[in-house]
Amino acid sequence: MNDILAALRAAGEETRLRLLALCDRADLTVSDLTRILGQSQPRISRHLKVLCDSNLLTRLREGSWVFFRLERQGPIATLIEQILAQLPADDPVLLRDRARLEAVQTERASAAQAYFRDNAAQWNAIRSLYVEDAAVEEALVAILSGGNADYRLGHLLDIGTGTGRMLSLLGGHADSAVGIDQSREMLALARTALEDAGLRNCLVRQGDMYALPVDDASMTVVIIHQVLHFAETPAAAIAEAARVLAPGGRLMVVDFAPHDLEYLRDQHNHRRLGFSVEEVEDWCRRAALSPLSTHDLAGRPQAGQSLTVRLWLAERPAT
Ligand SMILES: C[S@@+](CC[C@H](N)C(=O)[O-])C[C@H]1O[C@@H](n2cnc3c(N)ncnc32)[C@H](O)[C@@H]1O
Repeated sequence: MNDILAALRAAGEETRLRLLALCDRADLTVSDLTRILGQSQPRISRHLKVLCDSNLLTRLREGSWVFFRLERQGPIATLIEQILAQLPADDPVLLRDRARLEAVQTERASAAQAYFRDNAAQWNAIRSLYVEDAAVEEALVAILSGGNADYRLGHLLDIGTGTGRMLSLLGGHADSAVGIDQSREMLALARTALEDAGLRNCLVRQGDMYALPVDDASMTVVIIHQVLHFAETPAAAIAEAARVLAPGGRLMVVDFAPHDLEYLRDQHNHRRLGFSVEEVEDWCRRAALSPLSTHDLAGRPQAGQSLTVRLWLAERPAT
């Protein structure tokens, strides 16, 4: 009862209720919230502290930035969601907050798009050497869903989420989904994509694939899509992915089969020129995962060059 009373006291104040309503729509920083509410930063920070202390909001650190996110797990979260659902849609204060939130989001999205534009040419050059993304995604969904249109993925983790493409593709089938990436620019793109898609069960966090900010055995499906070739020690990245998989959980690795396009090392920072089937399966076994299958999608040759995309599926045994 004490926890519920503390939560109600925290939420029972106008500014704090407005902060909760805003964080229900997006992950926001103190400076975003200061701009939207038009109040001083120390005042907003004090209110945020009260909301975090009573577990209504969670802090997500991203380098020197901290995002505030509405807590969505547990009975208190359900109570707060019900309270927020009762707020009148035509309340002028809430309507103004929402309009300012949209302005902040539009500004963020255009900064993210500028970063994307600056790098898109480089990414597209590599993409043109392999099969269409849509074909890879179709194969990935077919494997994870087992052909069932209503498939569920439980708790999903996307390591090296980049623009959040895997979360956009699969998030609607997950109870919860987390994308981890080390790049703040990429996370900004992912956050915008998830907000646009209204995928509120998905969140992104800054983190390193070798030290994931995720509990042991807490995930049902883990994806490492086009990330492993950047890894200095891919075996360690697989072992870290295995650590967070629950018994019966599955790991999907998507990367290139071995190739000899050396320039991907110099110009695109690839550490590894693809992986053999056995190599990845061996790392999985060493991380106590059982390899289940592999699937190859041959690339589109251009000037004699092409890249084969390979999908590996492994499982943490149930016992
Ligand atoms: C080619 S992108 C792939 C993005 C996404 N998985 C996709 O397929 O659309 C590779 C991503 O891995 C991230 N990355 C590289 N090394 C990482 C590390 N040590 N920890 C977390 N993310 C990393 C990069 O920031 C980048 O966003």
